Amino acid sequence: MLNNLQMEIIELKKEKNAIILAHNYQTGDVQEIADFVGDSLELCIKASHITESDLVVFCGVDFMAETAAILNPQKKILIPDREAECPMAHMLPADAVRRAREKYPDAAVVLYVNTLAEAKAEADILCTSSNAAAVVESLNEDEILFGPDMNLAWYVSQKSDKMIIPIPEEGHCYVHKMFHEGDIYFLRENYPDAVLLVHPECDPEVQDEADEVLSTGGMIRYVVESNKETFIIGTEVDLVTRLKRENPDKTIIPLLSEAICKTMKLHTLDKVKNSLLNEDFKVNVDAVIADKARKSVERMLAVSTPK
Ligand code: 13P
Ligand code: SF4
Repeated sequence: MLNNLQMEIIELKKEKNAIILAHNYQTGDVQEIADFVGDSLELCIKASHITESDLVVFCGVDFMAETAAILNPQKKILIPDREAECPMAHMLPADAVRRAREKYPDAAVVLYVNTLAEAKAEADILCTSSNAAAVVESLNEDEILFGPDMNLAWYVSQKSDKMIIPIPEEGHCYVHKMFHEGDIYFLRENYPDAVLLVHPECDPEVQDEADEVLSTGGMIRYVVESNKETFIIGTEVDLVTRLKRENPDKTIIPLLSEAICKTMKLHTLDKVKNSLLNEDFKVNVDAVIADKARKSVERMLAVSTPK
């Protein structure tokens, strides 16, 4: 049942002809009032066909809202809390991409959507955790500069014969770095029949222990389609919140309940309401950067189906 504040937000959405897009790591109360909840690729695809709404409130981190703004320069994209940054995205400034290109002039540059707009503008193509291997295979080049997540770069290198060069060398997500093999051994002992799903931002040793390595959207599809009953989930804890809500007959266990992305949680219901009422805070991307970045986002969308 929705609470009063959630009902007020739903009324405000109608008044303002607004939609709310939310990432799978938003808290359950925000997921419940969103028009669409998804992984980074699903949110990009959704943002690429917004026609009916005047306002878009984006409950996710900065790079996700910026991508929506890049794809919709004519629309007002709002983020409820401006401080919602992804620290990994800030590990790869645009000049580091330019320097890497000078060093490897024959390489293609594939950047994770978890990057700043200025870095996206330097990429040949973007990728998300759900399409990274397919994006790399779609290119003619055999040398690939890949950033900023070293673990996603490792995951791609296991699926491809191409030379994958991580930029920077140690880009990472602090949330997915929290998982260790010890947590897995402990849970496997207690739940011997459970299926372990982990995100490709986890360390290689953790990926090696998993039954499947998937994006957050891939985990949702896997749990729905599987005839197994128990799942251990190696990603941010609010993906578990969504999985439990949508699969009440299955047992969903977080690999680590402390795996919380702090900046994702900045978007509280009060801030979402404020965002709708006062049309705060508008996401601005420099028009020249946005035009360049849009090409690499659209090139990714052309080779992508969510998985
Ligand atoms: P997904 O695209 O799998 O949802 O991942 C986004 C993210 O930020 C993971 O940390
Ligand atoms: Fe960034 Fe990690 Fe948070 Fe994802 S979970 S938004 S990669 S800090």
